[in-house]
Amino acid sequence: QPLVFDLPDGNRIPCLGLGTWKAEPGQISGVVEQAIELGYRHVDCAAVYMNEKEIGTAFHRVLSNGTVKREDLFVTSKLWNTCHRPEHVVQACKQTLADLQLDYLDLYLIHWPFAWEYCGLPLNENTWKGVDNTGDICFDHGVTLQQTWAAMESLVDQGLVRSIGVSNYGLAELHDIVSYARIRPVVNQIEVHPLNTRAEHKREAEKLGIRIEAYSPLGSGTLGVLRDETIQNLAKKYRATPAQICLAWNIQRGCVVLPKSVSPERLRENLEATSLRLDENDMERINQLDRALLACDMRTYWPYPVPEEALRPERLLR
Ligand code: A2P
Repeated sequence: QPLVFDLPDGNRIPCLGLGTWKAEPGQISGVVEQAIELGYRHVDCAAVYMNEKEIGTAFHRVLSNGTVKREDLFVTSKLWNTCHRPEHVVQACKQTLADLQLDYLDLYLIHWPFAWEYCGLPLNENTWKGVDNTGDICFDHGVTLQQTWAAMESLVDQGLVRSIGVSNYGLAELHDIVSYARIRPVVNQIEVHPLNTRAEHKREAEKLGIRIEAYSPLGSGTLGVLRDETIQNLAKKYRATPAQICLAWNIQRGCVVLPKSVSPERLRENLEATSLRLDENDMERINQLDRALLACDMRTYWPYPVPEEALRPERLLR
């Protein structure tokens, strides 16, 4: 069984989960099924990845053939930017539950701390962008993060989700949400790896009782994290792989890691990182690698100019 961390609301979360973004169409269902057979008990999904239906067929198979019981699986999904209005929050959550073939989520996150115009559900290639037909981004100024959070809280009350949290929040936004939350967010899911350790953010979030979940924990294959000399030397020292060093470091400092892989060998390799333990000097050597590098720069993914308010570097990097 993978190690679990306690969440502040009393629920527990496996310290390693499978990332599901950017798997090729037609591939993800088999990958999720294989991962669960290998021992994965935590899967990180999102409506905007537009593969929840495929993942749902994998959940249906492993739950109905007895590979795993629902209470032993931890499933996360995320509310997309176009569904921040309270009436859309509940619709979006129900759409995700239907797609995943589940009757509750273990964790539901606000995906980004801003709202775009509603463009319908389910999300598809045309509706996820929140744009009008001029192609301009359309922020929805008619709904606040506080109203969206209250709707997230009501999902807990209705039993549709067990825990709620946020993603891509900066420190200012975390301080803001705890000032009005009836149920505090249990996690902030952000990009964290040895070339972007987010040390200050992590320290401050933990003071608020919020645990960090690390996405792109291997630098998404684009930043050279796995080729870093220190990481490579530590891999030799521990007879481990560079990926295992990166994952073990994050888990050991208390962060949930969400590595994505579609290869059975790498799925297994990543899961086995949960049993690796680094000594304190080596933890500190990795802490020193921080260069605030981002693999997930939203300008690369969003098909229109992203306004400054969404890109303030202190919001993304601290
Ligand atoms: P693949 O899916 O072919 O295994 P991140 O989780 O940081 O976003 O990184 C995902 C990228 O890293 C993917 O390209 C994935 O490719 C690759 N990857 C996943 N696990 C490993 C591993 N153990 N060693 C090397 N590369 C990996």
